[in-house]
Amino acid sequence: EKAGHKHFMAKEIAEQPTVIGEALSYYLSGDGRRIVLPDPGLDFSAYDRVVMVACGTAYFACFAAKYWFEKVARLPVEIDVASEFRYREPPVSPRTLAIFVSQSGETADTLAALRYMKGKAATIASVVNVPESSIARESDVALPILAGVEVGVASTKAFSCQLTVLALLALEAARARGTINDAALDDHLTSLRTLPGIMTRALDLDETLNEVSQALSEATDVLFLGRGQMYPIAHEGALKLKEISYIHAEAYASGELKHGPIALIDAHMPVIVFAPHDALFEKTVSNMQEVMARGGKVLLVSDRVGLEIASEGVWRTVQMPEVPDFLAPIVYAIPAQLIAYHTAVAKGTDVDQPRNLAKSVTVE
Ligand code: F6R
Repeated sequence: EKAGHKHFMAKEIAEQPTVIGEALSYYLSGDGRRIVLPDPGLDFSAYDRVVMVACGTAYFACFAAKYWFEKVARLPVEIDVASEFRYREPPVSPRTLAIFVSQSGETADTLAALRYMKGKAATIASVVNVPESSIARESDVALPILAGVEVGVASTKAFSCQLTVLALLALEAARARGTINDAALDDHLTSLRTLPGIMTRALDLDETLNEVSQALSEATDVLFLGRGQMYPIAHEGALKLKEISYIHAEAYASGELKHGPIALIDAHMPVIVFAPHDALFEKTVSNMQEVMARGGKVLLVSDRVGLEIASEGVWRTVQMPEVPDFLAPIVYAIPAQLIAYHTAVAKGTDVDQPRNLAKSVTVE
């Protein structure tokens, strides 16, 4: 049942190229050039904003999607965790598209937030793994993520499938709103079709990530840094590590470091930096150098070009495959997951059933 893996989590991490491939074939037309949403679809001319609500890992998928929607579809996106959103009772303009993201589709706070939005938002959409779940049934449009059953309590393949579906949705919004031209859309869809292959190459880093994780397992605190669309992935990395290895971890936007957390830096707290060689790379590297100047040890996760520029003085490096910018959050989720996994295995914790956690949180 674990298909040769020691844990369900390892199996589910390894399945990501396959399940993402399935999500892509579900949402792309036969020729791969159009995005097809399940009935009744979404009318993007009816929205001028998006509100995305979820909990935990699903919330970090919303966080990453905010960057996509704002960038390609020029739609303002508000994100919130469901337990805050529902009690805040926020004002809702009628031209709002509300999106609820949930693996189980049964998370109590997310369901309550969805019910709050009924009759207020123009459309209630959900991005779910379980199609017969309450959240799917109570939405106007349910968008399946097709990750298959996820057994490990720590969500992995559901996260990358949520990201894939949300990236497709952002591109479809951009097309419908005319904020992207045909050539650019075509480029994005072409690179999305290469995603399973790139994910496979990222998974090939398993042994490298296992080695760094042996060293990380000695730490009591770990800091994750990222800028732009890597910031949500830093959060997901920190959450995964906390959940299964019980090591205290926090994520910060690289640029926030100097506004407080830099006081924590010493030789005992590893700092994991997610920084593909993109438009924000130099900025992230300068924050990373501030860490090293204060004796911090940095694990830099970047690509060939990024490592050529910035490896000097870094404690450990992980060389990721080249990734089109737009897809980097999906691919960089893999080292985030594998670091947590191998660190937890090194510590001997119960990876698939971490203490105090349940797979589906149906109470508030
Ligand atoms: C993280 C994790 C939790 C869930 C959260 C939401 O690994 O498993 O943070 O992501 O409880 O659950 P769903 O997606 O079922 O609403």
